Amino acid sequence: MYEAYWNLKERPFQNTPDPRYLYLSPQHEDVLMKLTYAIAQGLGCALLTGVFGCGKTLIARVILRDLGNQRFCWAYVNNPAFSEPAELIRAILRSLSPQILPEKKTELLLDPLLERLYNVLLDNVREGKENVIVIDEAHIIEDTSILEQLRLILNFQTEDRFLLTLLILGQPELKSKIDALKPLSQRIAVRCHLGTLNEEEVGKYIAYRLKIAKGSDSANECEDIFDKEAAKLIFLHTGGIPRKINTLCDFVLLSGFAKKVNRIDSSFIDKVIKEFNLS
Ligand SMILES: Nc1ncnc2c1ncn2[C@@H]1O[C@H](COP(=O)(O)OP(=O)(O)OP(=O)(O)O)[C@@H](O)[C@H]1O
Ligand SMILES: [Mg+2]
Repeated sequence: MYEAYWNLKERPFQNTPDPRYLYLSPQHEDVLMKLTYAIAQGLGCALLTGVFGCGKTLIARVILRDLGNQRFCWAYVNNPAFSEPAELIRAILRSLSPQILPEKKTELLLDPLLERLYNVLLDNVREGKENVIVIDEAHIIEDTSILEQLRLILNFQTEDRFLLTLLILGQPELKSKIDALKPLSQRIAVRCHLGTLNEEEVGKYIAYRLKIAKGSDSANECEDIFDKEAAKLIFLHTGGIPRKINTLCDFVLLSGFAKKVNRIDSSFIDKVIKEFNLS
């Protein structure tokens, strides 16, 4: 809607996990490196916690995008609020290998599903492929038997290796849920946490997303849209949470277009916060 006015090819601040827009702050870079290492070295299980909207799902999407399909098979489960372990295993199988999903009711029992999963994982490994299973939003798991089942699938090993790498993602309370289950907690080889962006990073984040949306090579060019001081107010208002930054900046660009503003400065942002009731 406002793209042409701001000389952009697309809207820069959409709240979607689009890997092209990943701004690598030092902590995002560190998390990406650690999770990639866990997969590459077959360490078994890694945990990523972080406040809402800070980039956990985006990082997972970037990792899945970058895993070559020839070498990796992956499953992505993003709503693990299951009431029984069989549902978890079925969701993993559905994502990993939809064509072999069991249809008979008797095959929806846990043991045959586990056997099927084990065979799929083993076949992939025999074909020279690595298995990666991502469980996103894991903080919503209430039933400890589901977390216990995650531990049990980590027992899928041969003599010298895990048959899969499990990445568990969720909001900060996930850490205490997992720590309460010592056998699972002990199996987590890599733990990382994503916090909010600091003021300087917020400025770089905005510039980076504008650069991608412009299809431009230079982030400096983006200073023609947002005034330097603008990042400070955006940081103060959003607490450095990328999802909140996106929402605010999207409305700011929209409102700037509607009011035919030449450049976004702090006082304009302040007006938009009030106008859109953003808290
Ligand atoms: N480092 C980043 N670079 C660019 N965009 C980011 C970054 N981190 C987060 N975002 C953007 O912020 C939004 C929210 O990110 P994401 O969905 O990954 O958060 P989350 O940590 O998974 O949140 P939740 O706990 O609510 O699931 C997305 O639109 C995403 O593109
Ligand atoms: Mg998420």
